[in-house]
Amino acid sequence: MTSPFRLDGKTVLISGAGGGIGQSLVKAFRDAGAKVVGGDREASMLEGLDLAGQVLFDLADPKATRTSIERYLAAHGTPDAVVSNAGFTRAEHFGQVDDDVWASELAINLNGAYAMTDPIVNAMAKRGSGSLVFISSVNALAHYGNPAYAAAKAGLVAYAKAIAVERGGEGVRANVVAPGSVRTPAWDHRLAADPTLLDNVLPHYPLGRMVLPVEVANAAVFFCSDAASGITGTVLPVDAGLMAGNLRFVDEVLRGK
Ligand SMILES: NC(=O)c1ccc[n+]([C@@H]2O[C@H](COP(=O)([O-])OP(=O)(O)OC[C@H]3O[C@@H](n4cnc5c(N)ncnc54)[C@H](O)[C@@H]3O)[C@@H](O)[C@H]2O)c1
Repeated sequence: MTSPFRLDGKTVLISGAGGGIGQSLVKAFRDAGAKVVGGDREASMLEGLDLAGQVLFDLADPKATRTSIERYLAAHGTPDAVVSNAGFTRAEHFGQVDDDVWASELAINLNGAYAMTDPIVNAMAKRGSGSLVFISSVNALAHYGNPAYAAAKAGLVAYAKAIAVERGGEGVRANVVAPGSVRTPAWDHRLAADPTLLDNVLPHYPLGRMVLPVEVANAAVFFCSDAASGITGTVLPVDAGLMAGNLRFVDEVLRGK
């Protein structure tokens, strides 16, 4: 009997496939038996990955992103699953946010993700089956900085729930993975500014470490598999315990560490 956790014969489209979490997503879906189509901004990001196909788009341009996806669907058909994983932020706090920054981080992380997935959601609904996973962030659930990005990531939660409710009757599921801090290239600019920064990150995490990219990827594989066939509209933190409570409060105030 085939395990319900396997994805043999399925095709998944993964955006941001060339990034830190993206590369782990590609490997985890391949290991589960799926064919993977990689999506990213530039072909060079996808070089060397084990892909069955690729589609290029810049999420900062939602119109062009939608056109690129529609072209892909017309040529190759509708994937069984999508992981909307591409994301970007540089504005760490309100001191670095203005109208342009707010608009740009909303465009990439929310409007672009909508433009990329909406044509696929429609095609999945027409077919009567499909699963989407949005890689959001703990920033969507409580404030940990990056205000514009956080608003966009919270928007993804609302969008996933809208798909779950309005498209559930047509066989489409949508769920959200909310990672805590993961050491990927997304941290390079912060570590370049302060190489000891991770020492300040770890005391916040009950498991005493950051999340690994593969741990985020495994959650996405689960959501796309038949093992999760009854699960839609949910948000799963993969965060080494961050959202469970305030470890630093317990350590510093109550344990006197
Ligand atoms: N690394 C973390 O600590 C962390 C924590 C929570 C959530 N996340 C989320 O996980 C996802 C993956 O992040 P990562 O850590 O692998 O980052 P990363 O920077 O390594 O990868 C990001 C990927 O998104 C792509 N991308 C960025 N802007 C794009 C655009 N305009 N158009 C198309 N593609 C674009 C990049 O090319 C890259 O492939 C992101 O959505 C991020 O917000 C990351």
